[in-house]
Amino acid sequence: MKDLEKIEKSNCCITAQQFDYDSLKKICELTDKIRVISETKEGRDWLQTLLSDKKAMLYFAQPSSRTFMSFVSACHILGIKIMEIRDPSISSMVKGESDIDSFKTFSQFADLIIMRHDKSNLIYEVADALSKDNKIINAGSGADQHPTQALLDVYTIYKMGFNNKKIAFVGDLARGRTVRSLALMLSKLPKEEALKFYFVAPSNYQIKDDILEQLKKENIDYELTDNWEELMSKIDIVYMTRLQNEHDKKNWLYYLKNKLGISPDNARSNYIINKNNINKLKPDCKIMHPLPRRLEIGIEVDKDNRAVYWEQVENGMWVRVALIALLFKKEKQINNQFLNYQKIKKI
Ligand code: NCD
Repeated sequence: MKDLEKIEKSNCCITAQQFDYDSLKKICELTDKIRVISETKEGRDWLQTLLSDKKAMLYFAQPSSRTFMSFVSACHILGIKIMEIRDPSISSMVKGESDIDSFKTFSQFADLIIMRHDKSNLIYEVADALSKDNKIINAGSGADQHPTQALLDVYTIYKMGFNNKKIAFVGDLARGRTVRSLALMLSKLPKEEALKFYFVAPSNYQIKDDILEQLKKENIDYELTDNWEELMSKIDIVYMTRLQNEHDKKNWLYYLKNKLGISPDNARSNYIINKNNINKLKPDCKIMHPLPRRLEIGIEVDKDNRAVYWEQVENGMWVRVALIALLFKKEKQINNQFLNYQKIKKI
């Protein structure tokens, strides 16, 4: 596997570990500036000229609504033209073409490849196989990583202020790639801002040791628990996740339960927020979720002003604009445009 450079020097966004505190801050600040620029028609038109000579290939071999739409919208904002494959069964892969040959083909047409795949290592192999001229973004790699979701989650928390908050990750933490990437990214905060982590799940769904090893290296204060109800009143942020049972597909029990119509969520019904327990949360505790949700957050919670998961969706598009702009080295131009905008506003 290629030694990945820090995100500023890199032509790809593959893992959460590519980001350090400075680059996270840079992306958050760039996102804010892009949002200000986009407030006017002139600003939006200017953004569309930034990468209007570029083409992106969106290869999504796993289901996606938000992430796919978010990247499409981000490309539109920057004027990037898009191509897509969402159903590999109608690509040459069914003729026996290897994954790498397929990506080599895409790279002949596209300057940027945005990919989601159930094989967690494929993203590294693709990054190794393609030339440095191709930019690559990981939009979800198996049960391992989802760095752009983590970026938008970090940005959402940055807007609240990090301030040593206590965050609880709840649900299927063993296979939830968003939690894995987010924990790694948040572990990069300096001591004065660092968050305290609680991993809340039954033992067979708990966060894996590889993540805990990284947290130890970064001196992160963390605890593992299976007692959600007890923890609820102590935290400032809850990051709720769904059961990732698509990974059970090869398991006969999965098929049997599906056949019998037994919801797999029954198994973890203690790990929820709904009208019956929401008042145990602090009045200013923020409720996050990468979505899609199932039963773990009742829809009545949407009306509660502690719920920020729909904001996360919007934040995702802007953070992805900033990330793509950064990979194409457009940061300086955006900063200058932002300064011009500030001057015009003062006149
Ligand atoms: C997540 C994913 O695909 O990992 N969805 C997303 O991209 N927002 C979370 C999930 O599917 O549970």
